[in-house]
Amino acid sequence: MSLRTCWINGSYVSEADATVSIFDRSVLFGDGVYEVAAVFNGRLLDADRHLVRLERSMREIALPSAYPVAQLEAVMQELATRGGLTEGLVYLQVTRGAAERDFAFPEQVTPTVFAFARPKRLSDDPNASGVRVHVVPDIRWQRCDIKSTAMLAQVLAKQAARQAGAFEAMMHEDGLVTEGGSSNLWIVRDGVAYTRPLSNDILAGITRHVCLEVADDAAVPVVQRAFTVDQARAADECFITSATSFVLPITSIDSHVVGTGAMGPVTSRMRAAYLARAERLTR
Ligand code: PDD
Repeated sequence: MSLRTCWINGSYVSEADATVSIFDRSVLFGDGVYEVAAVFNGRLLDADRHLVRLERSMREIALPSAYPVAQLEAVMQELATRGGLTEGLVYLQVTRGAAERDFAFPEQVTPTVFAFARPKRLSDDPNASGVRVHVVPDIRWQRCDIKSTAMLAQVLAKQAARQAGAFEAMMHEDGLVTEGGSSNLWIVRDGVAYTRPLSNDILAGITRHVCLEVADDAAVPVVQRAFTVDQARAADECFITSATSFVLPITSIDSHVVGTGAMGPVTSRMRAAYLARAERLTR
């Protein structure tokens, strides 16, 4: 198998040479932020929005920028092109760089920046027939709006989900659903879609935002309101949104079957509207 090309600190290199120091603060402290953008029809989808969010995450942790956003976008596209991706994902991470281990920021910061791409089926995602989620308590910190690389809580949540035979975690605080391990969550009741309003408790998902924008095309009324795990279980439909999944139906919550156990009409229209927009933007 040929090794893919990655990008690190300004150079395109083989993945075998794409390495960071053991003193990198992302390795030592999870002191970094990241983005994952989809590739559709060979082109980056919503790269501009992902890079605006990256800049915000960087500002929120006082991380200086190392490269202009336009260059990062060009790198992400180039990695997708070199990888021959029609559909897939590009990952980009910015860290506070390597320094002697000390919790507070180093005086001189040289950020580490790297990116890689990988193929993934998005338009005909094998999970589009429906996935299971596993309910876990949300044990994260109070700045879940920052797309931080410190993700041990999500790693544990998603591993618990996998062990329960589920695709994703449904995280909750005292019964109130926050989000998925790496996705935003929605429920549908009587034709209306509900998703939790933005706050520090969840990531402002780009896919979530696009769904709010295409909801009219999909003829889906949306209310941004928090819901409980019990309300999700009693919902007619539930779905996931993320750059890696677009819109996927949740057909069971642990052993409880949601609605009819198949993709419902609202989820189906939202997924179709999302894909139609992606098609428009990339053709
Ligand atoms: N995760 N919430 C969390 C905690 C996430 O990690 C993600 C995305 C989302 C959805 O955001 P968006 O629609 O912008 O992808 C919500 C990425 C895909 C990941 O970590 O792989």
